[in-house]
Amino acid sequence: MGMGMIMRSILAINNDWYYKSQYEQDMETSLELGGFERVNLPHANVELPYNYFDEKAFQIVSCYKYPLSLPKDCRGKVVYMHFEGVMTHASVYLNGSYAGEHKGGYTPFDIRLDELYNWELETNLITVVVDSTERSDIPPFGGQIDYLTYGGIYREVSIGIYDKVFIRNVKIETKNILKKSKALAIKLFVENLGNLQGKANVEVLLSERNGIEVHRNSFLVDLDEGVDECQIMLEDLQGIKLWDIDEPNLYELKLSLSIADVKDEYSCTFGFREACFTPEGFYLNNKKIKLRGLNRHQAYPYVGYAMPKRVQEKDADILKNELHLNLVRTSHYPQSKHFLNRCDELGLLVFEEIPGWQHIGNTEWKEVAKQNVKEMIERDWNHPSIILWGVRINESPDDDEFYEETNKVARELDSTRQTGGVRCIPNSRLFEDVYTFNDFVHDGVQPPLRSQREVTGLDRDVPYMVTECNGHMYPTKRFDQEERQMEHSLRHLRVLDAAYKNENISGLIGWCAFDYNTHKDFGSGDRICYHGVMDMFRISKFAAYAYSSQVAPEVEAVLEPVTYWARGERSIGGIIPLVVFTNCDYIEFQYGENEPKRIYPSSECYEGIPYPPAIIDFSVIKPEEAGSWGMIWKDAVIRGYFRDKLIVVKTLSEAPIPSDMLVEADDSLLSSAQKDATRVVVKLVDQYKNLLPFIDEIVKVSISGPVKLQGPSELVVKGGAIGFWVETLNIQGEAEITVESRILGQKSIRLSIE
Ligand code: GAL
Repeated sequence: MGMGMIMRSILAINNDWYYKSQYEQDMETSLELGGFERVNLPHANVELPYNYFDEKAFQIVSCYKYPLSLPKDCRGKVVYMHFEGVMTHASVYLNGSYAGEHKGGYTPFDIRLDELYNWELETNLITVVVDSTERSDIPPFGGQIDYLTYGGIYREVSIGIYDKVFIRNVKIETKNILKKSKALAIKLFVENLGNLQGKANVEVLLSERNGIEVHRNSFLVDLDEGVDECQIMLEDLQGIKLWDIDEPNLYELKLSLSIADVKDEYSCTFGFREACFTPEGFYLNNKKIKLRGLNRHQAYPYVGYAMPKRVQEKDADILKNELHLNLVRTSHYPQSKHFLNRCDELGLLVFEEIPGWQHIGNTEWKEVAKQNVKEMIERDWNHPSIILWGVRINESPDDDEFYEETNKVARELDSTRQTGGVRCIPNSRLFEDVYTFNDFVHDGVQPPLRSQREVTGLDRDVPYMVTECNGHMYPTKRFDQEERQMEHSLRHLRVLDAAYKNENISGLIGWCAFDYNTHKDFGSGDRICYHGVMDMFRISKFAAYAYSSQVAPEVEAVLEPVTYWARGERSIGGIIPLVVFTNCDYIEFQYGENEPKRIYPSSECYEGIPYPPAIIDFSVIKPEEAGSWGMIWKDAVIRGYFRDKLIVVKTLSEAPIPSDMLVEADDSLLSSAQKDATRVVVKLVDQYKNLLPFIDEIVKVSISGPVKLQGPSELVVKGGAIGFWVETLNIQGEAEITVESRILGQKSIRLSIE
């Protein structure tokens, strides 16, 4: 750090916090640390069982403390404490003095510390009193909600040390996207606490994500007191690569601001793209794309929301690369920045919305909701992946004044994105740019979707998207019987097909990606909504393949028959009709030693979706063979062909027996610097590596080395599989995770922690 030219420094402070789950009187002013346990962030205020718990358990007021020692040469600087997310209300104290507070668990906030900081002390004690009760003055609370919000300082915290003038935020607006020569309008929000006035120099460096420099320039901007907004333009940018779902090209913008002897530097990532919902559908960079998505809750077993970066990122990977979606809705709140950053990197589009669920509170509550709109947009406006702001409380009734306001707030902050607002009441007033509707009409019999005009009640088409379907209409567990799984899968497929067929429906976001813990008033009584196409461990149900099979076979060959392959699992027996989710040109089905028979995808039944399933019926396999009771049962082989080349084979066993236990971790290298975690999935499989769906088995997990298991160490295998996460402890080394089954022995995997 040069004299007088100190740039910002950002210190992560996520390790070695002190925590007490029970708030006691005067804790905010007490400097006592006795009786506190040491914890790292992200942190869940209470670790929960998998299911059947009392959801009041985490609705508590708890207390966190952190002894902060700032470098001595920072005296005279501006110091902010930055919280990424604290559920639901945080009051912050420094050495017992009140420093600030924040309402709302899903958006970040900053608390200024330097004015209270005592430089004579070796350490200054930060206290955060965290109220995780469901306070009716803060959205989403006040009514019933179908999810849990958990509690604690569940996202990261950092300290920012700045000079008296620094860049608080930057908004990058890309211009002339479809022209050869593009432009950028860069809005700088400068916090001028030194009341420096006059011209500041701003140096701008634009580069590709890989570091290749694209453009460099410098500008003089006028600074005023307070928080100042100024704009600079970069014109005539050549050779720019657009961001899209197949090639998510990202750019970095580095800004250096200097005035007098003060300097600050700020960088951000963004992309060049143009997203537009029209009455004829959705366009990305002028190319029409049918949106195919699922809703995501940011919740996990045991730790609720408190998962670190890697695990947040993994969800985006699963949605994009396993489920092959092009869109996710962050139902029903702004989600982790790590998740969104990964969506940018992967080319996964995002519909982000404010916290809320059906209930609208009083005036004070609405003010918090409007504040949420602001905080969400100001945090996330540079993400190319975000294509729509959700500015309505999910499924709330009309409230014209309120929603006129939330739309106004959004448009004033960001005129480059459209607004949506998710509703379930037809004919509701449209203040948003896109009519986003939860269409649960399909009950297995009723047609899959309503027409847009039936829903909107308007006499013209408007930009329109279906934001939920299925869910509570047909809850299905990963270990449910085959017939239910098939109907579950087909319901998703039918609605998806209908969305594809309707030109004036921009796309479909099914309910939902992953099972989630919920309140007693919802779900299956065990505090779980089994609404996911994957379970809480992100292990696929058959319905997952309704989505994943819609990808081009060049990307991944998909062939998944919706069956446990048994003569007597279904009512009456047999496996017909056998739905095979696939993106192959055709499949060949071979029963026992019979001649293989060719089956083409059933495009007559599913005219909309890119890759209809192949459906095996009695013309392929005779009732006297696989169809009826009392005949011998045999293996089957299903082969998938693309351009007449065999690309995928699946073999189903006539007599499955436990043959192997597969133990796989998502990562083999973790970090000790901050809390890190990875998932391990255990699968009990037959001779052909297919899951044993009805196996009754317990596995024991034991760990040696510097990682900690989240949740219990004895796990019940369900539907042939189970998952768990392990987290790091700020210690480097090698860890060994051993999984032991009674019938399949034990397997170990190793993790390196750097
Ligand atoms: C919707 C709601 C979702 C979820 C879903 C279940 O009404 O928006 O949060 O509860 O129902 O199907």
